[in-house]
Amino acid sequence: MENNRSTFASKFGTIAAIAGSAVGLGNIWKFPYVAGENGGAAFLLIYIGITLLISIPVLLSEFAVGRHGQGNAFRSFVNLTGKKGWGAVGILELLGAIFVLASYCVIAGWSLEYIVQSVAGGFQGMTQAQMDAQFDGFVASGWRPIVWMVAFLIINAIVLGMGVTKGIERCSKFMIPALFCILVMLAGVNLWQPGFQEGAAFILKPNWSAVSGHTVLAALGQSFFSLSIGMAAMITYGSYIQRQESLNGVGVIVSLATVLMAILAGLAIFPSVFSYGIEPTKGADLVFKTLPPLFAELPGGYFISILFFILLFFAALTTSLSIMESLVAFFSEELHIKRVWALAIGFAIILISSTLCAMSQMPDSHILVGGETLFDWTDKFCSAYILPLGGLACVILVGWFVPHHVVEHELTSSGKTPLWIYKFIVFMMKYICPVVIIILLVNCILDYFGVDMIAALMSLIH
Ligand code: PFF
Repeated sequence: MENNRSTFASKFGTIAAIAGSAVGLGNIWKFPYVAGENGGAAFLLIYIGITLLISIPVLLSEFAVGRHGQGNAFRSFVNLTGKKGWGAVGILELLGAIFVLASYCVIAGWSLEYIVQSVAGGFQGMTQAQMDAQFDGFVASGWRPIVWMVAFLIINAIVLGMGVTKGIERCSKFMIPALFCILVMLAGVNLWQPGFQEGAAFILKPNWSAVSGHTVLAALGQSFFSLSIGMAAMITYGSYIQRQESLNGVGVIVSLATVLMAILAGLAIFPSVFSYGIEPTKGADLVFKTLPPLFAELPGGYFISILFFILLFFAALTTSLSIMESLVAFFSEELHIKRVWALAIGFAIILISSTLCAMSQMPDSHILVGGETLFDWTDKFCSAYILPLGGLACVILVGWFVPHHVVEHELTSSGKTPLWIYKFIVFMMKYICPVVIIILLVNCILDYFGVDMIAALMSLIH
């Protein structure tokens, strides 16, 4: 299908932009912790296996839909199948994109506040209790997180306003290597920490006794989230991948890059945590409460704090660009309007949803869903339901409904990749991935009702 859509201009730019989407907050504040809790290197091995066998085929199905469909997430499905009905999958993924971005932008805004605070030298000599109070007060204040979230959205808008090649690609080509260098530097500084061995062992020493059915499900969920599957981003970016690029090659490189970044993040974070005898945690508490006073104690602590929050900001920005771009492409192509107007619509939607998310964290807020703040709910709802559903629909479409010659053309880079690799990927897409994703979905649904699927299965077997 020939047209005049934008594309990523170079191989490195393609990989940087896609890795930029994949390497996000999840890699820095969640992946290393989940790995540590689930058997360290044992988890990493399972994670890599699952990524190669399950997640990459799903990712490739999204790339193929985008590159062959040559449109936004909705249009690509319609173009590929000739049926409007399949466009519903694209709409579902775009809704997921809005949900995930709603809380993502709020957190990214926090990283901006913390860059400013670290520049002002704010964490030197602070105790853990003071840090907790400071962060809780900041989040509860409502307006300050909103101001930073708006600033973050404006930065997104500026980059996206420059277009796919000059904006997203150029920015990612700078930020992804920068992110890598910052991680190496932070991990390097931690080498001299007394808790380095313990911290490194937490994520790198295999502990097979911690491995269970839950580990496999945790690896699967983390792998899908990490590769930005099921939320329109990879379909949209897939549509910008040039014809001569190998989708398989891009998929494998990006997946390995996310694992590498997560390991480095673990080495940058946990040695400090263990040096002070603190229990490892994940999420906002880890990066905004636990770490700042610990980093301040390190040699060059002032600069380390600044670098760490810049790292978070870069990771969040390259990821949010991919999600926001999915919305911009959708509005500009479906409403036949200029990119700048599509950007304005996307901006307005995320502004409203992120403001509601930020406000839901204020004390006595009534912006709750099922007893949870909107902020927590959007994140969980997306990861648990939209992400697997979107991925499932996409992999089924490509495995079962798209003509073989189209899939072969996309996945063998017009005959360059050995046929057995293509056949293996299609086998996984057709039979294994759907079954595995359905298991993941059932587990999430049962979990909602308080039923532990693995425990229930075990008791059935015994
Ligand atoms: N891959 C991102 C992370 O690990 O933080 C999260 C994400 C981005 C999920 C984009 C889904 C998405 F569409």
